[in-house]
Amino acid sequence: MDLNLTNKVAVVFAASKGLGKAAALYLAAEGCKVAICSRNEHNLKQAQAELQKSSGSEVLTHVVDVGKKSDIDNFIQMIVDKWQKIDILVTNGGGPPVKPFMDTDDEEWHTWFENTFMSVVRSIKAVIPSMQKNKSGRIINITSVSVKAPLENLIYSNSLRLGVVGLAKTLAAELGPYGITVNNVAPGYHLTEGLERIIRTKVDMGFKREEVLEQWTEKIPLRRIGLPDDLAGLITFLASERSSYITGATIQVEGGMYSGVL
Ligand SMILES: NC(=O)c1ccc[n+]([C@@H]2O[C@H](COP(=O)([O-])OP(=O)(O)OC[C@H]3O[C@@H](n4cnc5c(N)ncnc54)[C@H](OP(=O)(O)O)[C@@H]3O)[C@@H](O)[C@H]2O)c1
Repeated sequence: MDLNLTNKVAVVFAASKGLGKAAALYLAAEGCKVAICSRNEHNLKQAQAELQKSSGSEVLTHVVDVGKKSDIDNFIQMIVDKWQKIDILVTNGGGPPVKPFMDTDDEEWHTWFENTFMSVVRSIKAVIPSMQKNKSGRIINITSVSVKAPLENLIYSNSLRLGVVGLAKTLAAELGPYGITVNNVAPGYHLTEGLERIIRTKVDMGFKREEVLEQWTEKIPLRRIGLPDDLAGLITFLASERSSYITGATIQVEGGMYSGVL
């Protein structure tokens, strides 16, 4: 199936590693010009080299903290200045910490509200003028399967990501007439450095790494932990012309782990 992504301009936030990088790699492989960001320039340059080597596509990088509005606005402006348009936006950010509710505090809630929710609001707001002008666009938010069923001790993720789902559904209606689709992908467990950090908190609680992975795997009908590529395939499809009648959807990629019907 030809996804018709050649020369589309794709922006992937928080993409020097993990799920964001996998999405950027897939989009670049389909011929997109890709802009990626993260906080650490060294990580970004490594990812840029990997993307360029594997795809030959143009790759732009910029140091951005998704918790800062000015960083997001400058990044988007830089891309529009260079490539005059944005076709695809993939929102993403670092994962909130693992802790029980009574260990949280207002300051941390505020930080994760900025990073997990406002970063999505601001990124989408920044790309809409370009997408409206072109009467087309694809917005894909990387959330978590926690929007379907809360995950233990991931209180910030369980709470704040539902705001992203509400935002996306609302924007799907508002932006549909401009040919812009807005969807969420909801990953389950995928082996990344981010997931390794969660595993380490369990190890600190006294579990063995293998036990943690076994416990998770037992609850997954496909009996394996996902890989970043498992999510990247869906993101790439949602970024393409082939998904033009899908909007306002939240699609989980979790090996069947979520046991609800809808
Ligand atoms: N992996 C999973 O199983 C899984 C499951 C469900 C949901 N998720 C969610 O998906 C997202 C990505 O997860 P991941 O596993 O790919 O994480 P990861 O392996 O830790 O990678 C995170 C990426 O985000 C960048 N980043 C972190 N904080 C940032 C910030 N404030 N501003 C800009 N860039 C930032 C990191 O680069 P720098 O350090 O250079 O900034 C890195 O490139 C997270 O929100 C996570 O909670 C992951």
